[in-house]
Amino acid sequence: MTKRHKTESNAMWGGRFNAAPSDVMTQINASIDIDQRLWKQDIEASKAHCQMLVKQSIIAETEGKAILEGLEQVASEIENGSFVFKTEFEDIHMNIESRLKEIIGDVAGKLHTARSRNDQVATDFKLWTREACGVLIEKIVGFQAVLETLSQEHENSIMPGFTHLQVAQPVTLGMHLDAYWQMLSRDKTRIQDCTKRLNDSPLGACALSGTGFPTDQDYTAKQLGFDQPMSNNMDAVSARDFAMEFLFCCAQCGLNLSRLAEEVILWSTPQFGFVTLSDEWSTGSSIMPQKKNPDAAELVRAKTGRLNGNLIQLMTVMKALPLAYNKDMQEDKAAVFESFDIACLCLDAMSGMMGSANFHLARMRDAAEDGYATATEMADWLVRNLNMPFRDAHHITGKIVKLAEGQSCRLDQLDLVDMQAIAPQITDDIYNSLTLEKAVQSRR
Ligand code: ARG
Repeated sequence: MTKRHKTESNAMWGGRFNAAPSDVMTQINASIDIDQRLWKQDIEASKAHCQMLVKQSIIAETEGKAILEGLEQVASEIENGSFVFKTEFEDIHMNIESRLKEIIGDVAGKLHTARSRNDQVATDFKLWTREACGVLIEKIVGFQAVLETLSQEHENSIMPGFTHLQVAQPVTLGMHLDAYWQMLSRDKTRIQDCTKRLNDSPLGACALSGTGFPTDQDYTAKQLGFDQPMSNNMDAVSARDFAMEFLFCCAQCGLNLSRLAEEVILWSTPQFGFVTLSDEWSTGSSIMPQKKNPDAAELVRAKTGRLNGNLIQLMTVMKALPLAYNKDMQEDKAAVFESFDIACLCLDAMSGMMGSANFHLARMRDAAEDGYATATEMADWLVRNLNMPFRDAHHITGKIVKLAEGQSCRLDQLDLVDMQAIAPQITDDIYNSLTLEKAVQSRR
């Protein structure tokens, strides 16, 4: 069955076409629902381009003025919500240009001189991503401040440190939380690095090979706050590694948050009992009245799935794409917008949740006390005081731990004679090494 086409062809490239696209073609081609988020950047870049066209005498000053004023009006219409985004105009670039034409007439068509949507979209998208990097960095710094306050407050709050999720050695809550501060610090510098690398301007590359018009790419780059124009026009319109790098930054940050979220989930169980989340950051159960669930933490943990998925999605789109621009690349924005939103939301949630959490310090200390967390200290004492090879000290301490287990007591509650039955040279000085505070201090 053949589809009947509407008779009018497309306003932007209708010259070569006799028929309008089918409805499904219009639908699959349109990206306006997603890329309308680029409107500010699109107008900003169009203004810079227009100013350059005037400066280079490619269009007349009066024409440039009309275009700039028209763009201002479009901006205010979008801002105040009166602008109507239309699927038939496909994307943000053509929606804005067609409205500009309604406002200022045919002179609007001059704006696209020496420009293509290919360099236009790459420019808009880079401007957007650069701004998003700034917002993310602010949010990371905000969460780091929460962690820093908690770390300082709990500098001496003893808790068990785990390996394999088994009690390993005593640490402090401050040290534990500071580990996350450090991870976030790397997330921050990673985004700063991403910002630096993306800050080259694609504008002026046109469709792929540049233009015969005497444009000034340095000028537009400077106007838009880029460090310089990109050096290769084909690369300029087809590079999306900046977007994938940004997606990786979001995924890595989300992944770090998900590790803390997981710990909060464990710690808030009655079995651990290390923390109670504030009511504001918990939910109840509709059937089990006793429940207080750490939903925000669970969702932060789960959102990693989408953050990782978005990275893989765009990498899959870009894999094996020939140079230069391909329409496939239109599928780049949804992933980046969504990952940005998710990363912001997760950082806000973790800031609120951690900032209002109530830690149960006595319970944490007891857990360190109960788990033979000072066994390494005991082995180290044997090495230091009896000049034993560490492997032997490890073996003897293992026997002593087994003994304590049999007596259901802690290491420091064992009788000296019982320990001496295992290693006769042990003196009661060994008890000095078995306090949690000693163990933590000796490892500062
Ligand atoms: N909406 C398009 C995108 O996001 C803009 C570029 C279109 N270029 C083209 N040659 N059809 O990629």
